Amino acid sequence: MTRFFDFLCASPTAHHAAETVARRLDGAGYTRLSEGTPWQFAPGGAYYVTRGAALMAFRLPKGAPTGAMVVATHGDSPTFSVTPAGTAKAGGGCARLTVEKYGGMLCATWLDRPLSVAGVITLRAENGAICTRTVKVDRDLVIIPSVAIHMNRNANEGATYNAAVDMQPLWGVGETPSLLSAVAEAAGVSEEDILSHRLWLYNRQSPSVLGAAGELVAAPRLDDLACVWCSLEGFLGAKPSAAMPVFALFDNEEVGSSTLGGAGGDFLSATLARACECLGMTQEQRQMMQANSFVVSADNAHATHPNHPEYAHPNNAPVLGGGVVVKYNGNCRYATDAVSAAVFGEVCRRAEVPTQTYCNRPDLVGGSTLGAVSVSQFTVPTVDIGMPQLAMHSAYETAAVADFEHMTRALTAFYGSSPTRDGEDTLILS
Ligand code: CO
Repeated sequence: MTRFFDFLCASPTAHHAAETVARRLDGAGYTRLSEGTPWQFAPGGAYYVTRGAALMAFRLPKGAPTGAMVVATHGDSPTFSVTPAGTAKAGGGCARLTVEKYGGMLCATWLDRPLSVAGVITLRAENGAICTRTVKVDRDLVIIPSVAIHMNRNANEGATYNAAVDMQPLWGVGETPSLLSAVAEAAGVSEEDILSHRLWLYNRQSPSVLGAAGELVAAPRLDDLACVWCSLEGFLGAKPSAAMPVFALFDNEEVGSSTLGGAGGDFLSATLARACECLGMTQEQRQMMQANSFVVSADNAHATHPNHPEYAHPNNAPVLGGGVVVKYNGNCRYATDAVSAAVFGEVCRRAEVPTQTYCNRPDLVGGSTLGAVSVSQFTVPTVDIGMPQLAMHSAYETAAVADFEHMTRALTAFYGSSPTRDGEDTLILS
């Protein structure tokens, strides 16, 4: 797990995750493209392009691609975003960071642990340009203290957390420097040159392998950096096929995806349309390519909780270490349909990867993910899958070591396949 842990620790925010992936692609010989400048392709070339904290990477097959084999993941996780003004005086002679919720976290898990801030800043460059840079304050910086049990006797019975009151981090005692001074120091720039910032809290606790036989992994941001990691491994390790493998890393899944780098925007569809244009494909060739494309939306799934098995569906209840989870929903909150499930299931069967099925217990609402959003923008058969995990949206989540191997093997096989349609009903998986 060492390499995954290095990736995770280098990715405290979605912006850092995209940057960490970009560095890995640079090292693998990928050419960075920019949406604002012309693209030129070499036969069999490998490319990536970024938009905010989102990233698309793809490889060109020898001829015109038969389809696009996309694995879509997200780099953001529930946390707290720092407000623009940053800090404010508080009771007890203290100063607090002022923060808002980002996504639906389990609040209690953020209390009483060392936290810090990371994110993105814009800088005024000497030539008048505005440049963007990631920043990570790499030390224990703030903490959100609980109220003592003596003052809140109900703390262990149905506690509630008011984000405006209970979840504001302690920044310091007495006279405190500005948050921006700490951020400027971490970035190695002067405070005056920072034009704007978006900063988020991140959990400082290191990832860990645990369990009786070392079979469990616990770490911050497993949702969805575990799937980001496995899909990147699969993307880079897949055998060549007649299709175009596409690594799609989105931002803002936790807040609904309707953003610049979210699956509700046009980043994936625009990137693929432009790639086809640059390859000189005709409109009909592009439509045929889309008809032969597939999207795997890889986002973590709920394993059955040992203390609360009653929350699981009676017979669609995944277990830790049991293999890749295929998610179904009666109201199509998951994008999985019969065709996408069959294609993905067949890929897993051939790769000898175990799969499990997930449904919400029918009287629970459950979550949703980017698959159903992505399909509205890039409308091709889409399957929602995930790695089983516990404590989703905790500041420190738990999964199984074996499922990293399951997920990586499944996605490597998916990226190496190129299903095509021969008439309406027949899919040929090669
Ligand atoms: Co997720």
